[in-house]
Amino acid sequence: MILVTGATGKAGRQAVIQLHEAGVGVRALVRRPEAADLPLGVEVVRGDLADPGSLDAALDGVRAVFLVWPTLAADAAAPAAVRRLAERVRHFVYLSAMGADERVGAVLGSHGYLERLIDETGVGRTFVRAGGFAGNDLGWVESIRAEGVVREHYDDWARSVIHERDIAAVGVRALLEGHTDAVYEVTGPEALTAPQRARIIADALGAPVRFEKMSRAQMQAQMSTWMPADEVSDALGEMDEMTARPEPVLSTVAEVTGGPAHTYREWVADHLADFR
Ligand SMILES: NC(=O)c1ccc[n+]([C@@H]2O[C@H](COP(=O)([O-])OP(=O)(O)OC[C@H]3O[C@@H](n4cnc5c(N)ncnc54)[C@H](OP(=O)(O)O)[C@@H]3O)[C@@H](O)[C@H]2O)c1
Repeated sequence: MILVTGATGKAGRQAVIQLHEAGVGVRALVRRPEAADLPLGVEVVRGDLADPGSLDAALDGVRAVFLVWPTLAADAAAPAAVRRLAERVRHFVYLSAMGADERVGAVLGSHGYLERLIDETGVGRTFVRAGGFAGNDLGWVESIRAEGVVREHYDDWARSVIHERDIAAVGVRALLEGHTDAVYEVTGPEALTAPQRARIIADALGAPVRFEKMSRAQMQAQMSTWMPADEVSDALGEMDEMTARPEPVLSTVAEVTGGPAHTYREWVADHLADFR
């Protein structure tokens, strides 16, 4: 039995589907079972990673976990949650981020912290360090549908965005083949800027999608809607640094799974209904 957390999210849902299709017993940990909408045959158990005591009900007979962690939001609960998992599982596959490092900023620091907690358990582990998710572009759905427009501040940052199927596929291979001492940095097969990605969406829709560069002030205002105001300028500073260089294009997906990583065009085709 393999436990998957974040099972309603982008990569976690794919991990559930792929493990289920491989004929493995899968248990999905979710906060709202009634809204989970997972394949028949998948065990769905209620639990909250921010409340480690709630995990026990999901751990009976579990031998491995595909761990998607709610970065930052539940970090205070991480030591107890990881300890509880380590009492049962023989293998952690942790969805981390490229550049994970406890010494740096918030999100990458959180991933570095989780990696350390997992390492300290001494249990076998695989870290799947993903670059940017193609799925982040679902944030454009509303403005594309309403106005046929994509608005971003960083218009020349080339990102090798990755399809959630490929993130999951690498983790699933690690689980099924027992890669218990691996760190996989995973990306998509090409680096594309936001205007280039908007053009690919327009092509697939057969409708115009305009790109508008958002000013720094607009970006700041947008971030302030979901981030404390005093953290916004720090976060922007970190993004300036990150966006100064293109993301690398790595061949890890093909090496681990035996098949090529999905292109952005393929990702768009898989999500076309969302953009229509
Ligand atoms: N987005 C990127 O570009 C990127 C790149 C590298 C790494 N990552 C990392 O990948 C992970 C997932 O990324 P995402 O933000 O894009 O995720 P996502 O697809 O939005 O999925 C988040 C999942 O976590 C679940 N969740 C949230 N809080 C929870 C809690 N307290 N207890 C149990 N489950 C909880 C959500 O379930 P509900 O349905 O209950 O909300 C959902 O299934 C994060 O750790 C992120 O830092 C992301």
